[in-house]
Amino acid sequence: MSEEFKSLLSNDIIPENWYNVTPDLPEPLPPPRDTKTDFSSINLLNKILPKEVLKQEFTFKRYEKIPDEIMEKYLQIGRPTPLIRAKNLEKYLDYNGKIFFKYEGATATGSHKINTAIAQAYYAMEESANGVTTETGAGQWGSATALAASLYNLKSQIFMVRISYEQKPLRKVVMSLYNSNVVPSPSNLTEFGRKILKENPEHPGTLGIGISEAVEYALDHNYRYMVASVMNSALTHQSVIGQESIRQMELLGEFPDVLFGCVGGGSNFGGFAFPFLPKSDDIEIYATTAHEVPKFSKGEYKYDLMDTAGVLPAVRMYSLGADFVPPKIYAGGLRYHGAAPSLSLLINHGRIKSDEVSESEVKDAIKIFANTQGFIIAPESGHAVASAIKYIKNHRNDKKTLLINVSGHGLLDLSIFQ
Ligand SMILES: Cc1ncc(COP(=O)(O)O)c(C=O)c1O
Repeated sequence: MSEEFKSLLSNDIIPENWYNVTPDLPEPLPPPRDTKTDFSSINLLNKILPKEVLKQEFTFKRYEKIPDEIMEKYLQIGRPTPLIRAKNLEKYLDYNGKIFFKYEGATATGSHKINTAIAQAYYAMEESANGVTTETGAGQWGSATALAASLYNLKSQIFMVRISYEQKPLRKVVMSLYNSNVVPSPSNLTEFGRKILKENPEHPGTLGIGISEAVEYALDHNYRYMVASVMNSALTHQSVIGQESIRQMELLGEFPDVLFGCVGGGSNFGGFAFPFLPKSDDIEIYATTAHEVPKFSKGEYKYDLMDTAGVLPAVRMYSLGADFVPPKIYAGGLRYHGAAPSLSLLINHGRIKSDEVSESEVKDAIKIFANTQGFIIAPESGHAVASAIKYIKNHRNDKKTLLINVSGHGLLDLSIFQ
């Protein structure tokens, strides 16, 4: 038993390459588009992203070698992450099949976000940028960016949505511990922020404002902008999750029949599920969103802005509209209006199915998971678990093998249970 456990976590479980889904899509991925005539967002990307990240964004190459310097950091932050059979959950649900979960909460910053943050920071360092910058809402992405920058001795400037900055002081402490300069956004550090503060000194901030500030800061300070999700390069970097899962399942002599993951912009989901696509045409895959952000059931598959401010280009995706203001749900990471173009395309083709779960289903799922398996999982990940529990209730006698991606731990999100 212990031998089996050890081999599931040995260094060679981490794949040598990232997997890019683009060549395996049922039709070519629609490219990003400019939306304004007087300003090109696509040219802007050329200036703010590391060249290698841009190359990976538009490549048709299926595999990209993970550089040794990145592999070293993946090991340092806790990769490979565990894959665990949820035997107590099976028993609790009286399920005749098997349930496994991949646990991204085991990384140093407690979620999958670090997988792409390390890659982007490495490429920024390679081209001698002065530092990296980004926006963050609840702080998972900011924490990952701060650690990744620190691992490569880069400075980091994080614009944290003011309302979260005030309501989630612990995440700010995490980022500061990693030597990041974290400011509430809108801030006085950029012309855009100053303009907004002049109009409304109490502005609570939005992710759109944070993006605009980070982009301006990158241009003015020779920093590189770090992309949290949605863009293909971020999903490619996240493919370590799915590839590790495949190897770990193989070592156990298993292969999943059904996959479950949650969707904000689509990065943990794509990284987890896409590597399974070339392995099997039969595997059933569920992409789960919050009831309050029904992008796949009520959104339109169309070209839409990636960010509210319109700084980044438009992409073809399922979207509720860039100006959609989601309710203040407890799972901040799932409030995004759209979903990655590759994932949207696969949903449009019916290859991946979508699901939605309610707040009460998610809270129940988090409680059940904590009491059966012991892990207190992130509210975002609770959506994937809730979706799997719902599936089991409807397929009790199927004896299928389920695999759930648990994208993060919830130890800094406990206020939702207060
Ligand atoms: C733990 C966790 N899971 C999921 C998400 C959703 O993002 P994505 O869809 O890009 O994986 C987030 C975003 O902040 C997150 O922090």
